[in-house]
Amino acid sequence: MDRPIIIAGNWKHNPDRIVGESLWREVAAGTMSRKSTVGANSTVKVVIFPPAPWLGWLMSGDGAECIGNGFPDSGVIEIGMQQISDRSAGAYTGEVGAAMARQFGARWALVGHSERRTLFGETDEGVARQMAAAAGEGLCPMLCIGETLEERDEGRTCEVVSRQLEAGLSLLHETEQYAVAYEPVWAIGTGRTATVEQVSEVHQQLRDLLQQKRGAESEAVPILYGGSVTPENARSLLDLDVVDGALVGGASLDAASFLEILEAGIASA
Ligand code: PGA
Repeated sequence: MDRPIIIAGNWKHNPDRIVGESLWREVAAGTMSRKSTVGANSTVKVVIFPPAPWLGWLMSGDGAECIGNGFPDSGVIEIGMQQISDRSAGAYTGEVGAAMARQFGARWALVGHSERRTLFGETDEGVARQMAAAAGEGLCPMLCIGETLEERDEGRTCEVVSRQLEAGLSLLHETEQYAVAYEPVWAIGTGRTATVEQVSEVHQQLRDLLQQKRGAESEAVPILYGGSVTPENARSLLDLDVVDGALVGGASLDAASFLEILEAGIASA
């Protein structure tokens, strides 16, 4: 089955307002100039996960004009939340829920990123609830899974990612859409990318597991790779049949680098 290639930028807790505006303008211009091949219904999609305060500006302020005044649906870049509450609206200080994010233009949500799991104590159960909350309100959740170096060295990679995948999908209805991002924890922000052999092996295991647990429908689910993706290694990773895109952290903060990775995605689509 032909799945679109997704090139996603995770800005994390960056950048400041001035840097962020020019980063967005450059990424938007570079994506717009490739709009014959990139966009919501094309073979390549671009998704940016900015910090939450950026959402309004990117989707309905000046930022929206850069992507063809895209609010709510027609923009060439889609936006996602890095973190979503599993609660619906109410007295939950500090939370932002999926319904509200969607009203302000979000279409995606990262769920279970390893930084959330290790630094903020998120559990498989909480991740499952966030997956359900996002999908239930029409966001496409991107479930992030991956093993630590210790787990890999102990030969437990398959066991760990399988557990995280099954738990993450446990509360989703059959028809709800989602994506998966395999991000080995030891490759995130370290400059140490997984080899194509390691990526192939895990992605194939994930694809087989999806098929086994969720049947033929799961063929449409994209499985992205993340962890020190750069312009230098993007092509070899994206050329793998089992890799449907890249979740890019550090390199997404530099427009030229991100656009080179996008170019690699277009070439491999
Ligand atoms: P990185 O981050 O590209 O900086 O390794 C990836 C991620 O955390 O999603």
